[in-house]
Amino acid sequence: MAIDTDEILANASQEIEAAQDPQALDEMRVRYLGRKGELTALLRNLGRLPADERPQAGARINAAKERVQSLIDIRRGFLETDQLQSQLTDEVVDVTLPGRGEQTGSVHPVTQALSRIEEIFVGAGYDVVDGPEIEDDYHNFQALNMPPHHPARAMQDTLYLEDGMVLRTHTSPVQVRVMESCEPPIRVICPGRVYRRDSPDPSHTPMFHQVEGLVVDEGISMADLKGTVAEFLRLFFEQDLDVRFRPSYFPFTEPSAEVDVGCVHCGGEGCSTCGYSGRLEVMGCGMVHPKVLEMSGIDSERYTGFAFGFGVDRMTMLRYKVDDVRVFFENDVRFLKQFR
Ligand code: DAH
Repeated sequence: MAIDTDEILANASQEIEAAQDPQALDEMRVRYLGRKGELTALLRNLGRLPADERPQAGARINAAKERVQSLIDIRRGFLETDQLQSQLTDEVVDVTLPGRGEQTGSVHPVTQALSRIEEIFVGAGYDVVDGPEIEDDYHNFQALNMPPHHPARAMQDTLYLEDGMVLRTHTSPVQVRVMESCEPPIRVICPGRVYRRDSPDPSHTPMFHQVEGLVVDEGISMADLKGTVAEFLRLFFEQDLDVRFRPSYFPFTEPSAEVDVGCVHCGGEGCSTCGYSGRLEVMGCGMVHPKVLEMSGIDSERYTGFAFGFGVDRMTMLRYKVDDVRVFFENDVRFLKQFR
């Protein structure tokens, strides 16, 4: 039996050269050099040769095995370099690319407007006071002259909790809490979130922001109210506005008024913001009802006071020409970014 390693070597070298990855090379090694490999089989058959031929044949087979092993090693080295090369190309870092920059946030427009409002009133000597958003029926309604049967409650429907508490419908209950706990002279604004049973539309959201104002002292008159409100509106809108007081009704003030200004966008000519009326309704106000003062323990013979209340979201819309209040609460960064 002749031992022919040439053909095996030729095949092996062709296949090793064609191997594309280390696994293929492992298969080659098993196929030619493994326990059941082709060259190993030749060695095993050596015994069948005449004794004098065995040393030479054995040496040939061993040389072939070494050759196959070294072909595999060379190919493996080549594949590894190749892989490293393509990994380097794939993962290349271009240090010359411009940076992505930092994402800086911005103060929400309603918060910006609120800061302006607070700044204006604090500058005039007012304190800024907080109150609970979950309020009792007494402070939200009764102490403001709205007993349980009062029809004005219908306009301020809200969520009633099982224990009789409500999500406050306005910031007016904070003025009650201030009057209960402080002696006049009182000069406060009470900003905060309020809640009403309203379906969202361009001018309503079930949660919105209000600022309540209250001044109680000896000799406070409607003239103080008018001067304060007109000056505040002028400072807030940074315009000389035509401010008008229109008789109105609130259970907690007497007399009561609704404040209108000439439209801050069209100056009175008529536009979509003012519904082509040339005027905008911006707040409610009045002289604090003597009964409301008395209920909170303030002597209505000695003291008088004025109060006003307005929606911060609405003021923000008017100042920044936003035509849908809902965008304030959708948290769309494209909208919020415009208020940097
Ligand atoms: N609380 C009223 C509301 O939410 C707003 C208001 C009107 C407040 C007149 C006042 C006021 O203090 O005098 O509709």
